[in-house]
Amino acid sequence: MLPANRLWLSEAALGMLQSLRYYCQETPRKLRICEAISNLEVGTKIKVQGWVRSVRPQKENLFLHVNDGSSLQSLQVVASSELNHRLLTFGSAVEISGSLVTSPSRKQDVELQADQIDVVGECNPVDFPFKIKEKHGLEYIRQFPHLRCKTNAFSSLLRIRSEATAAIQQYFKEKGFIQVHTPVLTSNDCEGAGELFQVEPAGQEKNQDEEGHQHFFSVPAYLTVSGQLHLEVMAGAFPGVYAFGPTFRAENSQSRRHLAEFYMVEAEISFTQSLEDLMKVMEDLFRSTTEHLLSQCPEDVALYHKHVSPGYRDYVDLMMKKRFNVITYTEAINILNSSSKKFAFKTDWGSDLQTEHEKYLVKHCGDVPLFVTDYPYALKPFYTRDNQDQPLHTAAAVDLLVPGVGEMCGGSLREERLDLLKSRLAQAGLDETYGWYLDLRRFGSVPHGGFGMGFERYLQCVLGVDNIKDVIPFPRYSRSCLL
Ligand code: 4AD
Ligand code: MG
Repeated sequence: MLPANRLWLSEAALGMLQSLRYYCQETPRKLRICEAISNLEVGTKIKVQGWVRSVRPQKENLFLHVNDGSSLQSLQVVASSELNHRLLTFGSAVEISGSLVTSPSRKQDVELQADQIDVVGECNPVDFPFKIKEKHGLEYIRQFPHLRCKTNAFSSLLRIRSEATAAIQQYFKEKGFIQVHTPVLTSNDCEGAGELFQVEPAGQEKNQDEEGHQHFFSVPAYLTVSGQLHLEVMAGAFPGVYAFGPTFRAENSQSRRHLAEFYMVEAEISFTQSLEDLMKVMEDLFRSTTEHLLSQCPEDVALYHKHVSPGYRDYVDLMMKKRFNVITYTEAINILNSSSKKFAFKTDWGSDLQTEHEKYLVKHCGDVPLFVTDYPYALKPFYTRDNQDQPLHTAAAVDLLVPGVGEMCGGSLREERLDLLKSRLAQAGLDETYGWYLDLRRFGSVPHGGFGMGFERYLQCVLGVDNIKDVIPFPRYSRSCLL
């Protein structure tokens, strides 16, 4: 038999449950559209908020499609045709309550029978640059960086970008890497290419010192071109570190694969002696991130493979099925020189590979990602490990080239030998600037290496997007407007 107080409690709980049920029946539950269309809440009163994607008045009913960015699919809403729908235009923001019911149409599983529709924000269809019945290309929507998130293509891109970011973080976490927030403001030009944005406070006259120097810091400051050197600091205490952040290059390029501000994923691995170790991480990272995207956002990815680059899915499947190829730079030059194709840029040993060469090499080697190793020593930055080979002098550097894009990752073993690093820095007149970097080789130095992957180039490669400006929310490039 139940003790008296237990009985009393369960009666009280029953009362609470009844009032909760009453409350639930009366107050519509707010759902995201992806939750509403998942078919689990049929028969309940719900409320959704979003933006109108289509309006179709018919004799008895008014049909709307409403999207809130939570999925590519919109929710069909059915309202009485007597409803005054003048303000329910393409793009307007709405809040709708009603009953979620099974849809009689085969096009969707569920629909919302609206009890109440409130227009929260109007949208004038004449002025709105996107038209309800038109298919707008990526180039057209690029003209409206402040509005393009309202299109299917760009909202899919943003969901894919967000998932890819999460997948990259997950990959490194599972492999035991520590994430480091490397600085945006720095005094170094890691790549030595002079593509730096210098940073000074606005209204410089306020910051002049007695000698007329105008620096806020004690040295000139720049926006980072790579977090590598700061990651190398941390690689002196952790076996694996990574960074994922904005990177800046003052490249005066209007190309389809260059931005002035882009996102770079960088990893640095200690106790590594070979480029194979680095290549394994690059390939694994690509595969696990891509698998995640294909399984977690199949509809969004399919939109790109169907409407933006038809047939591209076959390339992605091939990339996922086959192992990546590996050739040396010297082999790459031999392939280019034995080709009948006329290249615009030089292909003699010692010249840097250009996009046209990279794309040709990838195609030539079977249209799967291609590692090119052991570049001429003279082409690579001061930190790259000297292979000390003869007669061709190469460095332990590797690039990963991918279909349609060319270079997606750049990496190398780092010169861990103090004497060699010292003399290379001295030759470049950089030994004073990089005194702290030389210290890393003095106190517990280990063989190490790392790489950087251009996040936007990765997205271009997986989605088949031709122009890098279409895979970043707010593209910055030479002579672009800044929002
Ligand atoms: O090859 P990069 O210059 O390598 C580095 O910066 C190394 N310090 C990275 C490292 O070892 N930690 O740049 C790495 C990648 C390139 O392969 C490319 O994908 C991307 O960054 N990238 C750009 N992406 C868009 N716009 C630009 N202007 C880019 N410059 C480089
Ligand atoms: Mg590079």
